[in-house]
Amino acid sequence: MAALKYAGMDDTDSEDELPPGWEERSTKDGWVYYANHEEMKTQWDHPKTGKKKRCAGDLPYGWEQETDEKGQIFYVDHINKRKTYFDPRQAFTVEDAMVKPKRYDGNTSALEILQGRDISDRVVVITGGNSGIGLETARSFALHGAHVILACRNLSKASKAVSMIQQEWHKARVEAMVLDLVSLRSVREFADSFKAKKLPLHILICNAAVCTQPWHLTEDGLESTFQTCHLGHFLLVQCLQDVLRCSAPARVVVVSSESHRFTDLLDQSGKVDLSVLSPTQKDYWSMLAYNRAKLCNILFSNELHRRLSPYGVTSNALHPGNMMYTSIHRSWWLMGLLFTLARPFTKSMGFLCVPSII
Ligand SMILES: NC(=O)c1ccc[n+]([C@@H]2O[C@H](COP(=O)([O-])OP(=O)(O)OC[C@H]3O[C@@H](n4cnc5c(N)ncnc54)[C@H](OP(=O)(O)O)[C@@H]3O)[C@@H](O)[C@H]2O)c1
Repeated sequence: MAALKYAGMDDTDSEDELPPGWEERSTKDGWVYYANHEEMKTQWDHPKTGKKKRCAGDLPYGWEQETDEKGQIFYVDHINKRKTYFDPRQAFTVEDAMVKPKRYDGNTSALEILQGRDISDRVVVITGGNSGIGLETARSFALHGAHVILACRNLSKASKAVSMIQQEWHKARVEAMVLDLVSLRSVREFADSFKAKKLPLHILICNAAVCTQPWHLTEDGLESTFQTCHLGHFLLVQCLQDVLRCSAPARVVVVSSESHRFTDLLDQSGKVDLSVLSPTQKDYWSMLAYNRAKLCNILFSNELHRRLSPYGVTSNALHPGNMMYTSIHRSWWLMGLLFTLARPFTKSMGFLCVPSII
């Protein structure tokens, strides 16, 4: 029990208390066994309850398993800067019967969802990973060991995000690369630079967006909300499709919005009219442009899934939550006011330092 206390997890069940002379240990892959120091023997069954147990999931984030000079396994908690021979996973052992699936709800954080999953062999690209939802997602993946690439238009903001994550865990594998979605040239250059790294790509999160921006044409001659939120990502996925397919099982996640419901792509006669996607200044309303781009996100994700899932690449679109206080509202004061009023009642980012890099 002293070991539990040292690991900060002395929450035990007395039925499980071991008789004197016994010690609970775990194997490298998480199976619990019992050592009797008096009789110099080990066994899988608990000496009192007769139950077999195993650790649920992987090490908590920030922890690492290492081996000392005598070949004994010990555990390093990099976040709290401490070391123990007690396996922290033993605080979360489960009976070797049936593991109940976890239940998630609107209050579950990204870190909680990843808890106990080994993603150290995964490579993740997140567009707009320097702020808001993208940053929290990047942080959660990186703290669970994935190699994370923040694909951002502003390298200095992205580098600040990288160092904030690395301050939390110095071994986090996170890096920044330039990607400006309002330039199709930049999207192609990003894809080429990524391919030059010869990395696999397991998770591509199309997250970057702008909302309520004034009308503006990109260097490609397209309305910028549409290009940022949808078309840039569409091209990015096309350019990286071969890497995704070679990395299967892989997935694309497109961050859309519930607000896609408030629009369609039809003209006045009810026919699909693609010209509404990149309107002239006269026909532009920023919120409508955002909603249309978010609708495109979903249509794109569904079709992508249909085409690529036979190759082991799935695609899903998601709504992250309503009016989460990020920097998405920054272009229009009224939007800023609404987000501020809604803030006490909406889901918040886990990473409290976010505003400092916005
Ligand atoms: N917050 C909400 O309530 C909410 C609700 C529904 C859906 N969403 C969706 O959630 C996603 C994330 O938004 P958020 O709320 O986290 O907003 P955010 O904090 O403003 O993040 C948007 C990110 O996109 C980046 N970005 C903008 N233009 C770009 C470009 N041309 N090229 C590359 N990156 C660009 C921004 O970079 P800079 O920092 O350089 O500007 C920023 O990192 C978006 O897809 C949004 O539609 C959000």
